[in-house]
Amino acid sequence: MLPAYIPNPVAALFGGGTPIDLGRNFSDGRRLFGDGKTYRGLVAGILAGVVIGLLQIQAQAVFSLTYLPAHTLLSISLLATGALLGDLCKSFFKRRLGKERGSKWPLADMYDLVIGAFLLLLVIDPSWLFAQVTLAAFILILILTPILHRATNIIGYLLKVKEVPW
Ligand code: CTP
Ligand code: MG
Repeated sequence: MLPAYIPNPVAALFGGGTPIDLGRNFSDGRRLFGDGKTYRGLVAGILAGVVIGLLQIQAQAVFSLTYLPAHTLLSISLLATGALLGDLCKSFFKRRLGKERGSKWPLADMYDLVIGAFLLLLVIDPSWLFAQVTLAAFILILILTPILHRATNIIGYLLKVKEVPW
């Protein structure tokens, strides 16, 4: 899951600049995505996810970690891209609900990346998904994600990278 988990913190570290919605509003008069979704964050996040995935593929070959799911360039790219597309879609719906940028939306803020990453895999590379991700692994991901999410955001807040600890 590292290629899906890494993009969000990297986007928080390196994001900023031009927002993806270019400042435009939706028909409801609110921002399309908001200032928290930028091109720099999107690109840096996806690149970081792919780089960590390439390191995992290397490590698996070097240390013969055959019991782990075997990543491919496609699977790591879909995990990284899907994670941030899920985050972007979440912000779209968050704005429609009238929630401000950076405000709390507990379950959505935690599972957006999992939903995005797995939906993209399901649509583009389902054979990899069903061959490599067991039901037990998927359940473990659902349990670990909120814990890791909360821990990373508290660390990000303490390091003053994030403005809020969620
Ligand atoms: N970020 C970015 N580009 C992205 C995603 C994130 O630049 N595509 C950066 C922004 O600086 C953002 C920070 O990472 O503020 C934290 O991301 P997140 O918590 O997802 O955004 P929020 O600011 O909480 O905005 P939203 O309410 O839309 O979720
Ligand atoms: Mg947030």
